Formats: sequence, structure tokens, C-alpha cells
Amino acid sequence: SRNAIGVQTASDASINGDREEHDLCNWDELKFSLIPTDYMYVMKCSSGEGAFSQGHLTRYGNVELSPSSGVLNYGQGLLEGLKAYRGDDNRIRLFRPEQNALRMQMGAERMCMPSPTAEQFVGSIKQTALANKRWVPPPGKGSLYIRPLLLGTGAILGVAPSPEYTFLAYASPVGNYFTGSMHFSVEDKVYRAIPGGTGGIKSITNYSPIYKAVTQAKAKGFTDVIFLDAATGKYIEEATACNIFVAKGNVISTPPIAGTILPGITRKTIIEVASWLGYQIEERAIPLEELMNADEAFCTGTAIAIKPVGSVTYQGQRVEYKTGDGYLV
Ligand code: COI
Repeated sequence: SRNAIGVQTASDASINGDREEHDLCNWDELKFSLIPTDYMYVMKCSSGEGAFSQGHLTRYGNVELSPSSGVLNYGQGLLEGLKAYRGDDNRIRLFRPEQNALRMQMGAERMCMPSPTAEQFVGSIKQTALANKRWVPPPGKGSLYIRPLLLGTGAILGVAPSPEYTFLAYASPVGNYFTGSMHFSVEDKVYRAIPGGTGGIKSITNYSPIYKAVTQAKAKGFTDVIFLDAATGKYIEEATACNIFVAKGNVISTPPIAGTILPGITRKTIIEVASWLGYQIEERAIPLEELMNADEAFCTGTAIAIKPVGSVTYQGQRVEYKTGDGYLV
């Protein structure tokens, strides 16, 4: 449904999106699953250099890694995610790519890795989008999801930062991550992040430790789980791949960026847009009871975009929320 929060915000980059082929894939059936595209971008940095040298586009394909690379052995790696959209004018626009560049730099600092400059990052993303422009779906059919990675690819046996790093960006056309509303169970045994840990950055190590909890919830019919804070188990944090917002009256609240929540770029954008629209926005710790008593709730993320929360279940108690026309999302 079209609504106040779902408005499109400005893009930061636009490139000529000439379409050469119309029948590459069934654009009407795109899901959030990998469709390999033509090119990826690669850039390297050895620890001696400390900075990434000029990168290049190469055909999309497997990469060769030392069995003793830092990323394979100790998980020294970051991921990012951003989207390129084709407009009605056929131009291709990236959504706030410089924000992803900054987030990668922040994560790299935490993970003891060198990172590309913002200029190198944004330049590489533009080149990746342009090289794969025939894979950017027609307007309104989805987007080209670009997945940058920063990996410790040098060989290292002891537990220490890798001697070499690779930045890689590949792309896939995608549709919705989820269709319909989110039906959450609240996870009270597994925690996604701890204070002082890496929950606030896009470390590749943040995801597989929660597979078990999410798989179990999905087996019970839930879309996903909401994680609670590890320190007290009282406050909501985020879901597997998205931030969460709670609305009551004119107030929209979301957990604060305090090291255990991912600083989502869609999250930041919604905060900005909602306050322009006259909502009162609060970034603060939100007790689970407040979510269970909210008027509405919704989730944001690059992959999932903005999705309404249909229900939340905690210890057998299920709360349903209003969604659709006349509501926020
Ligand atoms: C994104 O929303 O881009 C993410 O990175 C979440 C997930 C697909 C890992």
C-alpha cells in the first residue's frame, strides 16, 4: 500500500541505463536469490601497502583462496548490501552508496582491516552496476542488489590479522526478500550480539550463529525472529536482516545504535523521512512489552526494504498489528 512512510527518497548517483536485452530472466518472478551476472569488481591491498590499489572489473566467477586465508580460518570479513534501481526515465540510480562506504570503513576499523576510501568504494559500485546494467530490472520489478565484500584473503596460520585483503563487489537482480507481513517469534535463548561485540558492524560472522534459531522459528511457521538484548533480555534489538520500528500514536521509536544494532541505511533514511513528515522519532531502548502493546510495527533493511509486522509471538502470546491502507506501512 502507498503511505506516508513508504515514500521514495532521493538517490545519490544516476548512470545511463540503456537496456540491451529484455528477456534475460522472468522479471515478474524475481525473489531474493542469486542470479549470477556478468562482471564483478576486485581490488587488493597488502598489509605492507596499507591502502587499496586500483581495482578492476573481471568476469563474475569463482575466486581462488588460500586454504589458510584469514577469512576462511578466522572469519575476518565484512559484507555490505546496496541496490541499484532503474527509473521510468531508464536511468539507473544507486541508493546512498556513500553510506555503505562509511559503514564498511567503520567495520574495517573494528575488524583490523584496511578499507577502500569512500571514493574507491562508490566508484567500484558504479562500475559494477554499469557493467551489469542489462541485469537491472525494469522499473517497479525489483532492483540490482550489489554485494560488496571485504575479506582477509592473505594466508595466516596464527590468530592475527591477514597479511592481504581483497575487496570484491558482485551483483544479482532481486525481488522481495519477503512477501506480505512479517510474523515474528521473539527469541529468548540465542542472542545476536553482545555489548562490545560485532553486532554493530556488518561482520560476516554475525549471520551463521543465528541460523539455528531462525530455522527453528521458520519450521514453526514464523517469518523470522526478533532478538533481545543480551545484557538484560528485556529490550528488542533487531531481526535477522532488518531493523525494527514501533509506532504508537504520532511517536515512532526504534532501538538506538549502541554497538549491538546494525546501523541500517534504510533505518537512517526512515528516521529522516518520518521526522520531515511530522512524526516524533525516538531512538531509545524499547522494552519487549512496548512492542507487544504498539499500534503498529515495521521493519527496514536494504534487502527487505520496508515491511509491516503482522504479528509477534512471545512465550505463546501472539499480538497482531494493523497493516495496509490507512496505516504506516
Ligand atoms: C541487506 O539488507 O542488504 C543485508 O545485508 C541483510 C542480509 C541480506 C544479510
